[in-house]
Amino acid sequence: TSHFRDGNLLFCTAEYGCLDFVPSPKILIKGGTVVNAHHHEVADVYIEDGIIIAVQPNINVSDDVRVIDATGKYVMPGGIDPHTHLEMEFMGTEAIDDFFSGQAAALSGGTTMHIDFVLPVNGSLSAGFEAYSRKAEKSCMDYGFHMAITKWDDDVARDMDIMVKERGINSFKFFMAYKGSFMINDELLLEGFKKCKSLGALAQVHAENGDGVAEGQRRMIELGIMGPEGHALSRPPLLEGEATARAIRLAAFVNTPLYVVHVMSIDALEEIAQARKSGQRVIGEPVVSGLVLDESKLWDPDFITAAKYVMSPPIRKSGHDKALQGALSSGILQLVGTDHCTFNSAQKAMGIHDFRKIPNGVNGIEERMHLVWDLMVETGQISASDFVRITSTACAQIFNIYPRKGAILTGSDADIIILNPNSSFQINAESHHSRTDTNVYEGKRGKGKIEVTISRGRIVWENGELKVEPGTGRYVPMPPFSYLFDGIDKMDSAYYSSLHAPVQRMIKTVES
Ligand code: URP
Ligand code: ZN
Ligand code: ZN
Ligand code: ZN
Repeated sequence: TSHFRDGNLLFCTAEYGCLDFVPSPKILIKGGTVVNAHHHEVADVYIEDGIIIAVQPNINVSDDVRVIDATGKYVMPGGIDPHTHLEMEFMGTEAIDDFFSGQAAALSGGTTMHIDFVLPVNGSLSAGFEAYSRKAEKSCMDYGFHMAITKWDDDVARDMDIMVKERGINSFKFFMAYKGSFMINDELLLEGFKKCKSLGALAQVHAENGDGVAEGQRRMIELGIMGPEGHALSRPPLLEGEATARAIRLAAFVNTPLYVVHVMSIDALEEIAQARKSGQRVIGEPVVSGLVLDESKLWDPDFITAAKYVMSPPIRKSGHDKALQGALSSGILQLVGTDHCTFNSAQKAMGIHDFRKIPNGVNGIEERMHLVWDLMVETGQISASDFVRITSTACAQIFNIYPRKGAILTGSDADIIILNPNSSFQINAESHHSRTDTNVYEGKRGKGKIEVTISRGRIVWENGELKVEPGTGRYVPMPPFSYLFDGIDKMDSAYYSSLHAPVQRMIKTVES
């Protein structure tokens, strides 16, 4: 999108609505408890032009300012979902939430930014970036991009440079599963990790042993298990644990930080815990489905009910959910995503006779903030500040956009939510804003209700009503070399100088 002036007229090339020249309202949020990851206090928040201008008690303003009373409520940074797949072409179909419907759903649930995964087009990262930039033109909230690396050659390596230096991408995902489509081998993983390190980009892995999954699927087919339960049975936690361990060790060998996406099992989290204990920089991201649900629904006799829970790695047996919650509250895992990747009932039915053909993915972008609040804060497992950290701040820091995002500080973007802890929420496919016709959290109720969402300084969710317009969201470029890279060079120097320590060898002269 670009803007140009012709005489007194200003032109915008945007295909969708653009609010860049519509004055942003002045807003004062009064009397709430302002919660940041580092601190919370009762204060007012004053917003102008999409930016937080002041955070302090008793701010006085003129009559033209919209005042929102937040007494008794929490005023927090909008959620940032680190893991979504909007409009993703996958398993012979396309995720049904696009950059407008998925983001509208997000905003109604208090998430004001997400980071989506760009897939290469015909192996080209540049073409993938172009395609996703076009998809995202209808955005109504801010977004960033990760990028998947699915093959390796000189073009890919060169494109990674361009993506990081010119396109605002600072993270690349490697799929260790999905054999025959996205899966890469260890050689590529090593090349990719090395390249990521040199660029200051964060390496991310989908950690499941893809060959093991293929073997597990063959086993199920031989046994005649063709239903959705076959999905869970064919890819057990040990395959996730193995791949997590392998990725962690290869990242240690390269000495580059690693981010494990959708950590679903005790097996995987134990590997992350052990690596972190030894000082390795490993970030673990559980997703809401793994924290809240268990695999039992995959055995539901109704195919559509069971199929809606199919995602990879699978939702695990009861017990893994509690362990993931504990790991999150104790800092072994750092932030919560959703892996929002929605397919409606008709799409899920592609696998009615064969679980291998059920498109993988569940909803969550709209539900994450409510469910995490209810599950973690209302039960006393974490504080309100911890909530802000795991739903927003940690993500902003890891992807190097803090404190523009992830904080309520003077100068930060005005992406803000107001949560009423005394109100409650209920989730239903009928009333949700996502385009899909089912919801994996159907019927769930809980405490805490996000009553207001402010995105880029505009009130987009209030009184149960969404006011969003396509084209108003903006791409947030993410610079390389986040804090996770601080000191990596020093560790390398220590390692390399240790290699060059002189070796004392005794050489005996042979006397003849
Ligand atoms: O089932 C899932 N997770 N679908 C989205 C693709 C991925 O692996 O993240
Ligand atoms: Zn414009
Ligand atoms: Zn994945
Ligand atoms: Zn995903």
